[in-house]
Amino acid sequence: MPDSIFSRVDNYLIDRFNLEDSLLKDIRTSVADHDMPQHSISAVQGKFLYMLARIVNAKRMIEIGTLAGYSTVWLGRALGTNGRLISIEKSPAYAAVARENIRKAGLSEKVEVRTGNALTILNQLEQDFLPFDLLFMDADKTEYVEYFNKALESGRPGALIVADNVIRKGEILDEATHDEKAIVVKKYLDTIAGNERVDTSILQQVGLKGHDGLALSMLL
Ligand code: DHB
Ligand code: MG
Repeated sequence: MPDSIFSRVDNYLIDRFNLEDSLLKDIRTSVADHDMPQHSISAVQGKFLYMLARIVNAKRMIEIGTLAGYSTVWLGRALGTNGRLISIEKSPAYAAVARENIRKAGLSEKVEVRTGNALTILNQLEQDFLPFDLLFMDADKTEYVEYFNKALESGRPGALIVADNVIRKGEILDEATHDEKAIVVKKYLDTIAGNERVDTSILQQVGLKGHDGLALSMLL
């Protein structure tokens, strides 16, 4: 929805707060150039994620779904000197593009892209990387519940588990929906709603990405 009031407000905010530098713009271009899905977060969402990482003083972060590295760079920029981010990407071709973007951002020392199955990689994280402080999931929605269950075992108290795309234009309200992604994110909402190990806030969002939302769960 390029011309909607929500998009126009997002564009105004990006401009007014100078949210997207040339590197972030180049990453958007690289998404288009490499025929990747246009699923990168918006700059407004990027700044929000960056703030979350700063607020919890995140030193060890995990991202599931690197794509071209747009959100990866936002999270990487929130890391302090000894911080690390491991970003997991299923596609080796996307990971190669992301690594180049991370290099251009000057973040290669702190940010590592690992390719393969996310659950396998989560299960193989080095003990000295754990417990993590923040996990951002923004990949195939069908495995969100498994990622969450794994995160419960490997985050510190106070760690944030953030999941993108949990509203799906409100499609989650339709009991008869055939939208597979809405069905699985609804399962994710049911999972976190019923879990006593986390405190959760759902942020419904509008903007350049349309109408969707973020789930923020804090490990108790
Ligand atoms: C889809 C995935 C995303 O991560 C996103 O932000 C928007 C849409 C999708 O698979 O449809
Ligand atoms: Mg997303």
